[in-house]
Amino acid sequence: MDFGFLVDYYKFFISGTSNTLMLSFITVILGLIGGIVLSIMKLSKFKILQNISGAYIAFIRGTPLLVQLYIVYYGLKDIPMFVAGVIAMSINSSAYIAEIIRAGIMAVDKGQFEATKSLGMTGAMAYKEVILPQAFKNILPALGNEFIVLIKESAIVSVIGLHDLMYNVDTIRGITYKPFEPLLVAALIYFILTAVLSKGFGVIERRLQASD
Ligand code: ARG
Repeated sequence: MDFGFLVDYYKFFISGTSNTLMLSFITVILGLIGGIVLSIMKLSKFKILQNISGAYIAFIRGTPLLVQLYIVYYGLKDIPMFVAGVIAMSINSSAYIAEIIRAGIMAVDKGQFEATKSLGMTGAMAYKEVILPQAFKNILPALGNEFIVLIKESAIVSVIGLHDLMYNVDTIRGITYKPFEPLLVAALIYFILTAVLSKGFGVIERRLQASD
């Protein structure tokens, strides 16, 4: 094994890692916005909104992210790769986040809904004062997990040429004819990112539980 390439090419790892992180972070934010809209639609009392949201979530979760990425990249002609990556990943993530939010709300005890009714609260008030503060504790850890998933799944954007960590490793392989060691370095970087984040989110989760 020879890691001498790091001397010349370490900058590829730094810029790739930063693009990977940026892409995943923007995606989880946009995915959260989309997921909130979708879950409101799905929980609304209007059948048509429920159906649109349900179909979207089913379709996006039922097709590969790779295919969605290509559809966005070739469908929206002449958009920058980074924008295509963000759009495709956000479209994808919003469907998963919608389910995270819905599950988080459903996990709130049924008695809580009944209590708001017996107190004469309106639906909006019940959600704001009682349901959402409790659902938040179920949703936040799952959102952290989604961010971690996105960091790993984002490696797929290398196929459209976005200079993420995976793509840059490919570049180094092309220059040095060494595929193995650069891949090991990339795997280690991905692992450090996900391990650190999951530790961090674990701490936040325990704080939330402690405040119960
Ligand atoms: N590999 C999965 C697919 O192709 C990616 C799913 C993305 N998951 C997520 N939680 N955003 O469908």
